[in-house]
Amino acid sequence: MKKIFRVSLTALSILLLTACGKPQNSVSVSDSQSQVENLPGVLGNNIASTTPVVLAPVSPAPELIAKCTRCHGNDGDGINPFFARIGGQQEKYLALELKAFRDCTVIGKECIRAGRDGRDFMYKPTDVSNLSDQDIVNLSHYFATRPQPQPVTGGDANLIAQGKDIYMNGVGDDVQSCVDCHGAKGLGNGNTPALSGQFDRETIKQMANYKNKRRKNTMMVSIALSLSDDQVKALAAYLSSL
Ligand code: HEC
Ligand code: HEC
Repeated sequence: MKKIFRVSLTALSILLLTACGKPQNSVSVSDSQSQVENLPGVLGNNIASTTPVVLAPVSPAPELIAKCTRCHGNDGDGINPFFARIGGQQEKYLALELKAFRDCTVIGKECIRAGRDGRDFMYKPTDVSNLSDQDIVNLSHYFATRPQPQPVTGGDANLIAQGKDIYMNGVGDDVQSCVDCHGAKGLGNGNTPALSGQFDRETIKQMANYKNKRRKNTMMVSIALSLSDDQVKALAAYLSSL
């Protein structure tokens, strides 16, 4: 019943958007390209670009921050294992993901972040379609500069050790070691997210999203497809303990 309601809400909003002509936030192709280029850190400053405008981050309005901390916790440190920890996350990565969620709500844009939780919690209740590029820049800077979340304690020591081995060494020729990209302490870099201190539920879910191609990063999809459920569980236990 709930699902039908949600589906019809989506259908209704599609109808409304179509009826109003241009969907919210819709911009012409050239506009949207220059806006993407202008997100600092997302594509970097293109020296050859004829559009030198760069969006510098300013403090987001407290009401906007409150919209996010309601689920992600104060400072994005996680109040509930159901919601990703985003405090201290890489700024570039945050901007990319927020933009990806927003694009999923714009008709005709490619949706590269189509997991069910994203649909249920990020597109609609959060109204990501209303976030401007400036909001995204501001929020990404805000959460990236919050403290790193504290490690989750009390995990299974054996599982953690198993996870650490895969993280550091990969699996044979099939899986590249995670440390190569996500770093020795799991702090990530630029487009590559921090994974340290993330709830294990979140890591398991995101690996499943890559496996099912609901998230469309080629590298991560191929890694996720090569890992067994037990290996992912071990990795998740290790990452939450970092
Ligand atoms: C109603 C709850 C809810 C609210 C409000 C909410 N989020 Fe989320 N957020 C989620 C869930 C659930 C996910 C995981 C989505 C998925 O599985 O793809 C998520 C994922 C994210 C991610 C991706 C994290 C990652 O590690 O890949 C970012 C970034 C994010 N949210 C930022 C925000 C910001 C900024 C706001 C405020 C504008 C916000 N969220 C508001 C529930 C929420
Ligand atoms: C070649 C570089 C590379 C390697 C190796 C790599 N990753 Fe990633 N990983 C990335 C990038 C880039 C992203 C962001 C992709 C996106 O935007 O969806 C990512 C995203 C992730 C995410 C999603 C995080 C979130 O906050 O939603 C998880 C979980 C993850 N990687 C785990 C791993 C694990 C575990 C391994 C090792 C088995 C690994 N990665 C190996 C580059 C890499």
